[in-house]
Amino acid sequence: MNKLFIGFSCLLASLILLNACKPKIQGKRSTQAASSPDQKGLKDFYTDYFPMGVAVNPRDLRSDEAKLILQHFNSITAENSMKMGPIHPGENNYDWRDSDSIVNFAQQHGLKVRGHNLLWHQQTPRWLFRDTLSHTDVTKEVLLQRLKDHINNVVNRYKGKIYAWDVVNEVIADDSAIYFRSTPWTQICGEEFVAKAFEYAHAADPKAILFYNDYNTENPVKREKIYRMLKKMLEAKIPIHGVGLQAHWSVNNPTREELEKSIQLFSSLGLQIQFTELDISVYAGRQGGQLIRGQAQTAAFTPEMEQKQLEKYKMIFEVFRKYKKEISGVTFWNISDKYSWLDGRGRKNFPLLFDQNLKPKKAYQEVVNF
Ligand code: GLA
Repeated sequence: MNKLFIGFSCLLASLILLNACKPKIQGKRSTQAASSPDQKGLKDFYTDYFPMGVAVNPRDLRSDEAKLILQHFNSITAENSMKMGPIHPGENNYDWRDSDSIVNFAQQHGLKVRGHNLLWHQQTPRWLFRDTLSHTDVTKEVLLQRLKDHINNVVNRYKGKIYAWDVVNEVIADDSAIYFRSTPWTQICGEEFVAKAFEYAHAADPKAILFYNDYNTENPVKREKIYRMLKKMLEAKIPIHGVGLQAHWSVNNPTREELEKSIQLFSSLGLQIQFTELDISVYAGRQGGQLIRGQAQTAAFTPEMEQKQLEKYKMIFEVFRKYKKEISGVTFWNISDKYSWLDGRGRKNFPLLFDQNLKPKKAYQEVVNF
C-alpha cells in the first residue's frame, strides 16, 4: 500500500514537473525559430548571404531592444565595452563586467560575437602611454609589452567565444599628404605596433579571424593608402585575414561605383570583407555627416530624408548581395534611431533601419524585399 502510494506520488510529481517545464521550452523555441512572416528578421532574409550584426551596450540586453536584437540579428559587437579604456582602466586592473555580459548574452542565444577593438588611438586608458613614476612617455619596449599583455588577456578571456577581432582601428590618416595618423602610438613606436598587434592577437587565439578596421574606405586616396599597408603586411606574412570597412555613410555617399571599387580592390588581396559599423546619416557629408556650416539645423526626419536614405540603403544592399562571396558580415552601428552615436554630433540623426519606437522604417522594406 505504502509502495503504491510512493509510486503514485512520484508519477504525479513527474507530471507536474514536466508541465512546469513545458512553457519554458516552447518559449525559447519560439524566439529562435522566427518562422511566421512578422517574426522573420533581417538575419532570416540574409541566411544565404552573410551574418547580420549590431553594436550593443549592456543596457540594450536588459530592455525592449533585446527582443529586436534577437529577431533581427545573429551577431553582436560591443559598441564601447571592449575598447581599451573601458575594459582595462588600470595597468593591473581589468573591468570585465560589461564585456562579460555581452558575451554571455551571445552564448545564451547562440549569437556570433565580433570583438571591437584591441588597438585604437581613442578611448585609451590614461595610464597607457605614461610612465607611472616619471610621468613622461613610456619607451617603445614598454608600450609594446603593455600592448602584448592587453591583447593576450582580452583575447584569451573570450577565446572560442569571440570569432573575429578588429585588431587595429583607424591608423591611416584622412589627410592625403600624411600616411599614418599621428598619435601617441606612432610617436612612441613608429609604425611597427600595427604588425605587432596582429602577431600578439594571433598568438593568443590562432583561430580568431583578425581584421584591420577603418572609415572613409571609399575615398580613393585613403583607400589606396590602406590597400598599400595591407599589401605590405600580407607580403611580410603578418597574420591578418580581413578588412573591416566601417560604413559610416550618408545619404550622399558612397556611390555604387566607389563602393564596388573598394570591395574589388580589398578582396583582390585575398582578404575577407566585413562592413563593420553601418549607418546612413540623413545629413550630407562623409564620416557620418558632420555639421556643415550654413546647413539647416533640424531634428525632424523629413520625407525627403526618408526617401534619400531608403534609396541609399537599397543600393548598398544590392551591392552587398552581389558581392556575397567576398563579404563575411554586415554589422549596424547601434540598433534603432532611438539612440545613435551620431546624435552626439550636435543634432538628432536617424541613421538606422528601425525608428525611435523600434519599428521597421521604409528603408527596412527596401533591404529585405529582393
Ligand atoms: C569609430 C569606432 C567605433 C565607434 C565609432 C563611433 O568608428 O571604430 O568604435 O567609436 O567611431 O561610435
